[in-house]
Amino acid sequence: MEIKALGYMGFSVNDVPEWRRYLTKLAGLMETPCSTDEQARFRMDSRSWRIGVEQGDLDDLAFAGFEVANPSALEKMRVRLQEAGVKIISDVGDLAKKRDVLDLIAFKDPFGMQIEIFYGAGDSYEKPFVSPTGVTGFQTGDQGLGHYFYAVPDVVKGLSFYVDVLGFKLSDVIDIPLGPDMTVRGHFLHCNGRHHTMAIAEAPMPKRIHHFMLQAATLDDVGHACDRLDGFDYQTTDSNLGVAEEKPNSYLTTTIGRHVNDHMVSFYARTPSGFEMEFGWGARAVDDCNWTMTRHSRTAMWGHKSLRKQK
Ligand SMILES: [Fe+2]
Repeated sequence: MEIKALGYMGFSVNDVPEWRRYLTKLAGLMETPCSTDEQARFRMDSRSWRIGVEQGDLDDLAFAGFEVANPSALEKMRVRLQEAGVKIISDVGDLAKKRDVLDLIAFKDPFGMQIEIFYGAGDSYEKPFVSPTGVTGFQTGDQGLGHYFYAVPDVVKGLSFYVDVLGFKLSDVIDIPLGPDMTVRGHFLHCNGRHHTMAIAEAPMPKRIHHFMLQAATLDDVGHACDRLDGFDYQTTDSNLGVAEEKPNSYLTTTIGRHVNDHMVSFYARTPSGFEMEFGWGARAVDDCNWTMTRHSRTAMWGHKSLRKQK
């Protein structure tokens, strides 16, 4: 397929300063020098940026950037989109420069979300990624920056766009129990070895996305991030005995657990915009030579217990 990976994501948020604190001091991303209290960008690897936040009312995912290899791959995607009747935004001004890519096309998906396809991202190996919290690294490279769980009003329409037009492939489905009489089928889609770059479901959610996911290099990275997001500052205390205390400052929404499909060990935490971040490690990869899709009836092998009732 032409799309190689999720290259960047941009969020429209009400509180940029709080997002800056959240993504650097808690998640451990590296802020770029051009960040302000109106907009900020964050690095996870050698790329000039991977996640951006801009002042806005949406408090949600505003755009996603998918990467192709080169100009001819971008042209193939442009033709495929036009043949499918997708309107490509003709005047994007200096958007490619703003995104720090050589060229891109932009369009809306069937639900109004802006999707961008690009090549030629800015890369800075000469300025190594250094996490402010000591995260040892993030799994990116040919698997892209991570994944997001996308809630749509019409999953048939969503699958026909993302699978038939953009070229994503189904990894598996999970029939997710949301209550005693309610099950929602999550469809997990890949475009590279990452088990899913996007999950899509017809789910009743207040935001476009339920969560986005960042995959760290080690299990200890997950444990330390879990402590930080639980309001426990291991750098300023010698005690590890705070586990049973009430934690009004905790962002955690689940315990650590392991997913049934991608085998990710992760936890979930609310972001300053209300949707969640999944922070994980240890996912298995998909190989299209031998992968066959399966069906699951729960999301976790173990763990991932909800902590929301305690808040
Ligand atoms: Fe996830």
